[in-house]
Order: sequence, then C-alpha cells, then structure tokens
Amino acid sequence: MHTDYRDIPLQFPPGFVIGSATASYQIEGAAAEGGRTPSIWDTFSHTPGRTWNGDTGDIACDHYHHLESDLDLMARLGLEAYRFSISWSRVLPNAGSVVSPDGMGFYSRLVDGLLARGIRPIATLYHWDLPQELEDAGGWPNRSTAERFAEYAARTVEALGDRVHTWTTLNEPWCAAYLGYGSGAHAPGRTNGADALAAVHHLNLAHGLAVPEIRRAATNDPDVSVTLNFHVARGEEEAVRGVEALANRAFTSPLLRGRYDDDLLAQTSAVTDWSFVQDGDLERIHQPLDVLGVNYYSTVTVRTWDGSAEKVRNDGHKDVGGSPWPGLDDVEFLPQEGPYTDMGWNIAPDGLEDLLVSLSEQFPAQPLMVTENGAAFPDVVTETADGPRVHDADRTDYLVRHFGAARRAMDRGVDLRGYLVWSLLDNFEWGYGYSKRFGIVRVDYDTRERIVKDSARWLSGVIAQQEA
Ligand code: FCB
Repeated sequence: MHTDYRDIPLQFPPGFVIGSATASYQIEGAAAEGGRTPSIWDTFSHTPGRTWNGDTGDIACDHYHHLESDLDLMARLGLEAYRFSISWSRVLPNAGSVVSPDGMGFYSRLVDGLLARGIRPIATLYHWDLPQELEDAGGWPNRSTAERFAEYAARTVEALGDRVHTWTTLNEPWCAAYLGYGSGAHAPGRTNGADALAAVHHLNLAHGLAVPEIRRAATNDPDVSVTLNFHVARGEEEAVRGVEALANRAFTSPLLRGRYDDDLLAQTSAVTDWSFVQDGDLERIHQPLDVLGVNYYSTVTVRTWDGSAEKVRNDGHKDVGGSPWPGLDDVEFLPQEGPYTDMGWNIAPDGLEDLLVSLSEQFPAQPLMVTENGAAFPDVVTETADGPRVHDADRTDYLVRHFGAARRAMDRGVDLRGYLVWSLLDNFEWGYGYSKRFGIVRVDYDTRERIVKDSARWLSGVIAQQEA
C-alpha cells in the first residue's frame, strides 16, 4: 500500500531542530493561580457533556508546579527546541491590559529555563484559550477580538521578546474557527457556519495585526510564524478542491498571497457574503513569514455526496451535531484505509511527504517546520528492574515513518527547518479529555509522575545522532 519509510536514514542538515510541543491549557493546570482568569476552554470543559468524562484542564499535568523538573526532563531527553503556548488570561487576566507579574513571570522562568539548558523557545501566542470576556463580547466572529489579540501580542513580546527564538501567532486557526464556531466540538461550542467563516477572517486578521507588533517589540530579531493544520484530501477531484479551499486556502491564500480565492467565496456564498472583510484587511494579513508551521496527523478521503445514502463524515473530528464544513454540504468524508491510531486517525506518512512537497511547490521561498506530528495509543506501563517503562512501539513506529517521510520530502527539495513531536507529555486532549495519550512521556494523572516512554528514548537517539 504505502511507501515504506522505515529504512530512511534520519540524518538532517546542520541547523535542523528536533524537539517537542505542548499547549498551555492542555498541560499547565493551576487554572486559578497567579491571577489567571477563565478562558473559553475553562468554561467549555466545565459545561456538562462537552468533554469526555467531564474532564477539565484545572490540574492537567500540573506543569505550572512542575516547571523545573519538566525543564530538566527536556534537557535529559536532549530536546533542541520546545514549542509551548502562552495562556492569554494568565498574562492579561480578565482580558485586561495590565500584565500579571505572576502570569508573565511563569513564562519568563520557562524561557530562561529553556535557554539555560540550551533549548530553543518556540512560543505560540494563541492555542485556543480565548479569555472568556472576549467570547462574551462576541468572540472570534467579532472584529475587535483581532485588535485585542494584537495588544496581547504586544504586551507579551515586550516582556519576553528579548529571549524567545520563534513567535507563532496562532495554532491551527482551522480548529479555532470551524470546531469552535461551526461544529461546536471545541470551545466555545457554537454551531453557526457564518460565524465560523467570520472567525476565520478575524483569526487571519489577528495574525496580520500581531506580526508588526511582534517585530516592533522583539529585540532579538526572532523568527515569526503561524501554525496551520492542513487537510490532506484524497479522492474525487471536485470534492478535494472544495475541502482544500475551505480548510487550507482560507488561511494560506490571505496569509501568504494576500487574497481570498474566488472558489472559496463562491462555495460559501450561501452561508456568508464575507462583508466582514474590510478594505486593507488583506494587505494587513499578508505578512512575510520566516517559517510556516505545519501540523500533520492523517489524511481524509472525500467525494461528492449523491444523496442516495446517509452522508458519512469520517473527517477525524468529533461529531457533536454541527458541521465544521460551512458551504460544503455536498461533500462526504469516507472511512480511511487503516491502520489507525487511538484517535481513529489513519496512519499515512505519505500524506506528510505529499503535503510538504505541495506546500513548497505552492510557496517556493517559504521555509517550513513540522510543528506537530505524533500519535495517541493506549499505552501500558510495564514494571522492569529499571523501574516503570512504557514500551510504545506503535508510537515509535509512527514517528519513524513520519520522520522518514519528512526526510524524503527534503530530498525532493523541501526547505524544512525542524520537527516537533506532539506531545512532550500526555495531556488534556480537548473534547477527548484525558482518554487519549499523545505524550512521549507518560503522565500518571493520580500522582502526576512522569515516565519516559520508549518513543522519547528513540527521539533522544535521533537527536544524538545528528552532527553538531
Ligand atoms: C492538534 C492540536 C493539539 C493536539 C493535537 C493532537 O490539532 O493543535 O493541541 O490536540 O492536535
């Protein structure tokens, strides 16, 4: 079936960074400490029925209180880079404009701790935890949220912009817009296609307004970036084009070309007239990027729905009633060929190779970085003479193949600068709560003990075998 990527030597060029990633709400806990106020994910996870088992990020991995030992753990693994996100309501409580010394102090200690251990800090400003007050005022469908984001970016970069190597404005605006406001599977859980598309635009605008603030406030000439989750669609051509327009080009075209594509506007015209796009917005959104972050997990297979049988939606996203595909009512997402991860996502490393090659063809001068790739599997802890171990051969195999696919893409000319594994720690997997384990390090949710899995040992080995 698929190319076998397991035999490709994982030797990368000098300067290529290998590390791991997390996000604030998924790991930090300390939800009400140091002045932090609720985000939409606090509200959502505390609303009955929204997450698996009613799980919340109140405590999560308690990373907030394990900062030093987690930093030591990263150093022991030899990570070259660590991608984390900043909780907006921890640094600017109540969505205000006054920086919390405790909140910002936490990230300052994190950044210092990384630098002291020789680990490159890659900071994401928005990994989905919008301050609740801003949602109450309309959320991402509301233009002023983009302006508030630029202020938050400015305050944060003023505090940390002498030390952070890479600033990422947004993580996966696709999820924030379409799952948050379209399907309702993510916070804030609204289900309105027009709102989802307005959110798309205002997230793009937020990025565009924040980039100049980052460049102004940073004193160390950082890389500026945004991370997108691309849908790698296979199947019938017309359906593929529709999915690519809504899922991928709704972001890449404004961000990297300064336009919304005609086919996107046409296929969504029954949902919205896009009148929220104001004069000058596209110029603002179109900012040169030092690196484009690519998150990749699996593929989708699509075809035009002929109405003869019930429409299927195997798009990998939790189905809670609403649609994350505004304007694409005639597309169905077919079941995928296995094998699958614990998320039910198909394992398709060739999708990563194809995606990277396709992006570098579409945007030839644009450096890329894999900012997330990894897999959930139901791990088992084994007691050994050396202590507890997790022999996660399935996760390691997933990573071996995807690293191989990335290496192959580079052989085909892709300018790939690094690879960050999702995730450093098992954590709060959004609507799935703690039921899905993505970590290369296990977290015991009773004791918060960390156990280094075999996949982390493998990753350490890959890092160690690179030439300095
Ligand atoms: C991505 C998210 C990340 C994590 C992984 C599994 O969509 O950015 O937070 O949930 O999926």
